[in-house]
Amino acid sequence: MAAAPLLRLSATSSLYKKNIMNKLHSTEILLKQNSKAVKVVVLSSTKTLKKNKSFFEMYKFKANYGQAVYSQIDNTIFVGSNFVKKQKSMDPFYKLDWYHLGAITAKCLNKINANSAELRTYNADFPIEDFERYVLGIMQASWHYDEYLPEDSKKSTAYSLYISDDLIKSMGKQALIKSIDKIKSLDNSIRLVRTIVNEPPETLHPYTAAELIKKTFSTKRNVSVKIYDEKWLDKNSMNGITFVGRGSRYQPRLVHVTIKPKSKPKHKVVLIGKGLTYDSGGLDIKIGGNMKTMKMDMAGAATMFGVARVASEISLNNVEVHWLSAFAENMIGPNSYKSDDIITTYSGQTVEVFNTDAEGRLTLADVLSYATTLNPDYIIDAATLTGAAIVALSDRFTAVMGNDSDLVDGLVGSFQEESEPSVYVPMPESLRSSVKGEISDLINTSKLDRQAGHITAGLFLSHFVDQNLFRNSKVKIKKPREFAWAHLDIAGSAYNNGNNSLGAVGATGQSVRGLLNWLIKLDSK
Ligand code: BES
Ligand code: ZN
Ligand code: ZN
Repeated sequence: MAAAPLLRLSATSSLYKKNIMNKLHSTEILLKQNSKAVKVVVLSSTKTLKKNKSFFEMYKFKANYGQAVYSQIDNTIFVGSNFVKKQKSMDPFYKLDWYHLGAITAKCLNKINANSAELRTYNADFPIEDFERYVLGIMQASWHYDEYLPEDSKKSTAYSLYISDDLIKSMGKQALIKSIDKIKSLDNSIRLVRTIVNEPPETLHPYTAAELIKKTFSTKRNVSVKIYDEKWLDKNSMNGITFVGRGSRYQPRLVHVTIKPKSKPKHKVVLIGKGLTYDSGGLDIKIGGNMKTMKMDMAGAATMFGVARVASEISLNNVEVHWLSAFAENMIGPNSYKSDDIITTYSGQTVEVFNTDAEGRLTLADVLSYATTLNPDYIIDAATLTGAAIVALSDRFTAVMGNDSDLVDGLVGSFQEESEPSVYVPMPESLRSSVKGEISDLINTSKLDRQAGHITAGLFLSHFVDQNLFRNSKVKIKKPREFAWAHLDIAGSAYNNGNNSLGAVGATGQSVRGLLNWLIKLDSK
């Protein structure tokens, strides 16, 4: 009998072959009435609906935000949108959240087993952006990662959503058609993000990730995709990526996606996402159950994948968008990199490894420096970088850091408009010395040990967007400069471990909407 092969690289069905975009459920939005469908009425006051007065009284329905009741006689779900501020604390996210209201609506629809609904009436002031958030909220809340469940226990529901005439009139048919295209693109893309974050590491690894990205953009004429393999990475001194990925049987890949507008762009943006398809910690192995969920360590890359996909579909006019992600697996084996290794990064700066579990910043270092060679106006990275971000800010908030206040403020504002919790976190210069090395330029942990690990990680990254610090003669720099850069630590916000009752356990898809909002605003500048 022949010995079993040691390395079965195609041990599982490839994600690429599964054609996941076809398998994902899809809610349809129709611009017509349907008298048989459940009506969904969003209202901020019960005054206008006098005929339902006794029903509302019976159920104590006051149209307050979060309230929802179903009237069987009218076959109508009433959803309240009147936000009454009760809390005294300063919380910019304590406000009306249309996306969340969509989730509440989906819950109601599921309760009465409805899979079609007609959005019939509305608040007089229902801006189209809120309509988008609301409908997207319904669509996302009804999606679950069902891939591995039998048919009869799948939780996802695909609805047919009918848009009533009065809504069409108030928003305008043309605007609505455009808006629906955007909603669909966002819905598909966020489902893609959530799917691949939830996908097990033996299915989604650097090779399948690269294949999936190539395939996703292959039909889009305004997009080019380049995939660089381990040989290219080695030849181009991308040693941060190479060292981290070395212990895995799946060698690392660098993905570069470019989306160009039809005419000459006014702005160039590079989006970067941490793409650790699995983070075992490496030789400094994760213990005490901390390894579980580390399939999500590529959520930064997935997020930027989602943003890039929407950007490629809604066609921005003035922004050239680049997405860069290094995909790697941080594993244990004879080839693994070690604590004590000193890595000469792509920038030429050296880093002594103090902990193989602080791997994300090593891969990001190379990608950030490579991004500067594209000479962009802005660099934004998203990364599930530190447990410290969760300890400091809970698992809801994205920590937003950076070196450019306009960029950072703009991002926090864009997230806030989408009700995606994020906070600006300063990176005090006084802490910078904590990431400096004794026998190397930098270390990959911090001398402050457990203090503000998200901030010291951010400070570490900042060295790789400043070309004044570069000393790799192979990197051609005309006039060295520091690039405008923002860093999003999404370690908490990308994944719901079960203590966030608003959404399904697992990938949240958070940040895609906020980043896209920021891009669309930049496009109009
Ligand atoms: N991927 C983890 C960070 C993480 C932790 C993300 C929990 C999501 C949930 C990262 O690579 C890591 O292990 N960071 C270490 C850094 C430390 C060794 C300096 C951490 O945060 O403990
Ligand atoms: Zn790690
Ligand atoms: Zn990690």
